[in-house]
Amino acid sequence: MNVAVVLVAAGNGERLGAGVPKALVEVGGKSLLEHALGSIQKFNPAQLVVVAHEDHIPEFESQVRASYHGKFAISPGGRSRQGSVENGLALVTEELVLVHDAARCFATAELFSSVAQALELSAVVIPVMPVADTVKRVSGSSVLGTEDRASLRLSQTPQGFRTSELRSALSQTSDEFTDEAALMQSLGFAVESVPGEATAFKVTTSSDLDRARQDYGTRATGIGTDAHKFSDSGVLVLGCLSWTDYPKLEGHTDSD
Ligand code: CTP
Ligand code: MG
Repeated sequence: MNVAVVLVAAGNGERLGAGVPKALVEVGGKSLLEHALGSIQKFNPAQLVVVAHEDHIPEFESQVRASYHGKFAISPGGRSRQGSVENGLALVTEELVLVHDAARCFATAELFSSVAQALELSAVVIPVMPVADTVKRVSGSSVLGTEDRASLRLSQTPQGFRTSELRSALSQTSDEFTDEAALMQSLGFAVESVPGEATAFKVTTSSDLDRARQDYGTRATGIGTDAHKFSDSGVLVLGCLSWTDYPKLEGHTDSD
């Protein structure tokens, strides 16, 4: 299928506060970027554009080169998510495009396929999830009313578009939208939905990262070796046991 993927990964991750761009934060020994690339590799698009944090382009590029086998290009990020999408889209040569957040790095290849398939019949396609909680409308601390959650959905990515239509929509607007489907809808395009998936949740805060590490962190468990010098005094503690007949090891945090 003539579908490109634009993976927007250029954000700072301010709310996560990891001190590095969110896409480079690791879960189970792989960065969020690498997790996202895993699903995209399985989906196997005709073209991939990764929009990278402009201060870390070599690191992004080497991660993509090492973990993605296919045609790809790297674009520097914009100041906003929408700016990053615009930068990435400038390199797309395929007719159809799926825009995906690296922060939703556990979205499966099946979700990409489902959006791409629906895109054959519709101009704009997004995955959505039902709302589990009761939703209140508020003004400050006052609760004004309760929304009908049966007709509400949470929007996810990947979101699918005709490349030329999205490009033209982005060039026409000076407003910022939180997703491109909202921009397209504001211009009169019909937006269709497909069922989203719980795994496509967005890693935004440290509690999302905890959840990700709980669900996906164990996959990288393995066996390694480490070496430390013997110490003159003290008791060796290994595997939570005291080994009194053996000399202690020197080091800190992981030596015993
Ligand atoms: N993004 C981007 N360029 C930006 C801002 C965001 O490519 N200038 C990307 C992020 O890398 C992420 C996706 O858009 O994959 C969704 O954004 P968000 O979850 O808000 O990530 P950040 O902007 O990095 O996080 P924060 O808002 O907490 O800084
Ligand atoms: Mg952001």
